[in-house]
Amino acid sequence: MAQPTAGESHVFYRKLGRRYPRIVRGEGCQLFDDTGKRYLDGSGGAFVANLGHGVPEIADALATQARRLAYVNGTAFTHEPVETFAAELAALCPGDLDLVYPLGSGSEAVEAALKLARQYWVETGRPSKRKVLSLVPGYHGNTLLALSASARAHYTTCFRDWLVDVVRVPAPYAYRCACAGRAPFCPACSGEAVESAILHEGPDTVAAFIGEPVGGSSTGASVPQPGYWRRVREICDRHQVLLVADEVLTGAGRTGTWSALEPYGVVPDLMTLGKGIAGGYVPLSALVAPRRIVDALARGSGALLHAQTFSHHPVLCAAGVATLRYLREHRLVERSARLGVVLHQRLGTLRDLPLVGDIRGRGLLAGIEFVADAATREPLPRAAAFAETFTAAAQEAGLVVWPNVGHADGARGDLAMLAPPFVVTEEEIDEMIALFARALRTAADRAGAAR
Ligand SMILES: Cc1ncc(COP(=O)(O)O)c(C=O)c1O
Repeated sequence: MAQPTAGESHVFYRKLGRRYPRIVRGEGCQLFDDTGKRYLDGSGGAFVANLGHGVPEIADALATQARRLAYVNGTAFTHEPVETFAAELAALCPGDLDLVYPLGSGSEAVEAALKLARQYWVETGRPSKRKVLSLVPGYHGNTLLALSASARAHYTTCFRDWLVDVVRVPAPYAYRCACAGRAPFCPACSGEAVESAILHEGPDTVAAFIGEPVGGSSTGASVPQPGYWRRVREICDRHQVLLVADEVLTGAGRTGTWSALEPYGVVPDLMTLGKGIAGGYVPLSALVAPRRIVDALARGSGALLHAQTFSHHPVLCAAGVATLRYLREHRLVERSARLGVVLHQRLGTLRDLPLVGDIRGRGLLAGIEFVADAATREPLPRAAAFAETFTAAAQEAGLVVWPNVGHADGARGDLAMLAPPFVVTEEEIDEMIALFARALRTAADRAGAAR
């Protein structure tokens, strides 16, 4: 069948002018297009397809729920799928994170979390606490408050006048910081930068600090040093700042533990989840909060000021329940840890390839940063569009990866992420690495020819 061109199709595509392969089927880590070409889904799309494609149990669960009851509004009714989803999700979350507010996208969960933080301080008589601190590089979503908290110049520049001021704190991004991630740590990697920012703004003005416990695509899966989050927790406690862990990308087992924060032994005040909590079968996200915070609203205004038609949705929650059970029954979080070790070991074989500067990550989350000079870590010129060239070459070779740009200095920086479904096999990892290496050589040749 002929590929639609931008002129023939009525789809407002993500990348205008690009001709997309038409995918007709998915199975495990594999995708098939209408020409019969097979792709290995090396990134689960955007870190979403954690269970793999084509799992009948999840499809059946949402079809059954849609037949029984597709929709009621969360202001009028509760129902079995939301009650079960909340109970099972809360049981997986650390400490006193007990109450679950289901939404659709990660951006919505982040918006709701930041609004809850602000509303909490207003309703407990401290309305001056209104500022949000976030890490740079960092990403929290694309709606305007979530975008304000995101340090992504290429998304934000056009909308700068519409965004709220968010205080930027340098992220613990070891490959590009003063200490290179080794003790004695620089302020970014120790957590001291968080305290300096709170003191600079005035603790009485700061409502919340939001961060990705392990970096997503913004820092290419940078893993903060073991003491980082404990120090940040202490700082937030000292200055009465709510700590929001954005686990939209890293949660639900992606880094080999249920949450990426788990190995740090730290409980945040609020947690956001999304992407993998329904494995891509439906768009589902969640804000998880403790009763001590929500009770302040219960005693005051009586509701979170974040109303969305499709929150607490029966079909989405049923898909969430089925996903959580599937993860548990198939021990997929443990598998993410085990196969993550294999992935990182095999990725080590790419270190000497052209333009590879660093490889990092945890569990089935890996970032490969490309540089012009591995010794100096000099980024490639942005005009070379290397991450994009590489991603296209990988897709041609039959491997889906997730690119990111701009992390090195706000403009330059090229990396690719691997984050396969947790059902990935060792053989599929080997194939992904081989395709990655082939695509890298192709992209390096193309970039060389373009220069
Ligand atoms: C850490 C993090 N938070 C929030 C979001 C926003 O999620 P969504 O794209 O589902 O709105 C993302 C998306 O990539 C993310 O990685």
